[in-house]
Amino acid sequence: MPALVLLGAQWGDEGKGKATDLLGGSVDYVVRYQGGNNAGHTVVVGDQKYALHLLPSGILSPDCVPVIGNGVVVDPAVLLSELSGLNERGIDTSKLMLSGNAHLITSYHTTMDKVTERFLGSRKIGTTGRGIGPAYADKINRVGIRVQDLYDESILTQKVEAALDFKNQLLAKLYNRRAIEAGRIVEELLTYADRLKPFVADTTLVLNKAVDEGKVVLFEGGQGTLLDIDHGTYPFVTSSNATAGGACTGSGVGPTKIDRVIGILKAYTTRVGSGPFPTELFDDDGEALRRIGGERGVTTGRDRRCGWFDAVIARYATRVNGLTDFFLTKLDVLTGWERIPVCVAYEIDGERVEELPYSQSDFHHAKPIYEYLPGWSEDITKAKTFADLPKNAQGYVKALEEMSGAPISAIGVGPGRTETIEINSFI
Ligand code: IMP
Repeated sequence: MPALVLLGAQWGDEGKGKATDLLGGSVDYVVRYQGGNNAGHTVVVGDQKYALHLLPSGILSPDCVPVIGNGVVVDPAVLLSELSGLNERGIDTSKLMLSGNAHLITSYHTTMDKVTERFLGSRKIGTTGRGIGPAYADKINRVGIRVQDLYDESILTQKVEAALDFKNQLLAKLYNRRAIEAGRIVEELLTYADRLKPFVADTTLVLNKAVDEGKVVLFEGGQGTLLDIDHGTYPFVTSSNATAGGACTGSGVGPTKIDRVIGILKAYTTRVGSGPFPTELFDDDGEALRRIGGERGVTTGRDRRCGWFDAVIARYATRVNGLTDFFLTKLDVLTGWERIPVCVAYEIDGERVEELPYSQSDFHHAKPIYEYLPGWSEDITKAKTFADLPKNAQGYVKALEEMSGAPISAIGVGPGRTETIEINSFI
């Protein structure tokens, strides 16, 4: 039985929640390995819609153990409020496991995120303002606070004091803000300790045992490939490894144990926040994709920037993640266009470029080269098999598959749980 990684192949928001939901019943563990409550999954179960930001989507399946791995940054207030929100709707959350090595997002990280963005002005990243970047910065600077620190008050106090030492100088001297009192932060963090305690576990041990016992373990990426801190459109990225390698470092399960890496790929492209986006549309088509696709952020409520499908990006995702499969989502959103442009390469300084340029300046002025595929007008939301799709929709999927470098093993044809065509089973 396999260990699978499921991740966004573009800039996030590809519809990962739906993919995990499709696998839900057969999965024993769902693991988040990076990011924090900057992520947003919408999962539809029956007539109920759930928006999750921090919790793995497996929390909704009664037989699945949801795990927050060491690579995640956890805002304890958000975690507890997501848990109680689900409990109020009758969902049992007692199986959740939280790595003692995961780092905490404290209120000073959220403050730093907001003041830094304000300070950057027009150069801002457009972060979600949830303290993600500052919490990871502290982790790398070795002044982070981990979940396990909540259970040793004296260590916790020393660590919070060390973390605030430099930040208070910055806040007071550069940002003209009042310094933050360490004692107040420690007091606040300690209020979470008892409530989180039942969930804290040695998740690396648990997950390796599970894989060795042949359980199905699903690693669920947040954000997407092009928001990865190493492989994304730096600096307009998130502060963690959203690509496949992050599943290993963020969980403590080695790469030899991963069987499949599935990239979630939207049938067109969206992104939120600042940064380059070659196929972005500023016309009626962009507006139509936004409206029909419901392209508004689950976490931020911001409108997503929309554009046509970009095969250069899909090929890049195949390469840097070692993708074995794609899950193509939201094909139904494209119903009704007479012809659909697909970006097959870029023009950079008069030259045709087939692969994503490694140079940021080149990527910033890459112009899409489009091929036009014939569209379809039939409703595809009831399609159960590939053969049920209109010929031109089949052609669109086949063309994308050929350009993207990995088989398309499932297709989302509508938002509901069953509105998916499974071509090759993932498990
Ligand atoms: P941060 O992750 O809050 O630091 O934001 C950094 C960049 O990643 C910004 O452009 C955000 O809009 C983007 N981002 C973060 N999380 C998501 C997500 O789940 N979906 C799409 N974009 C995201």
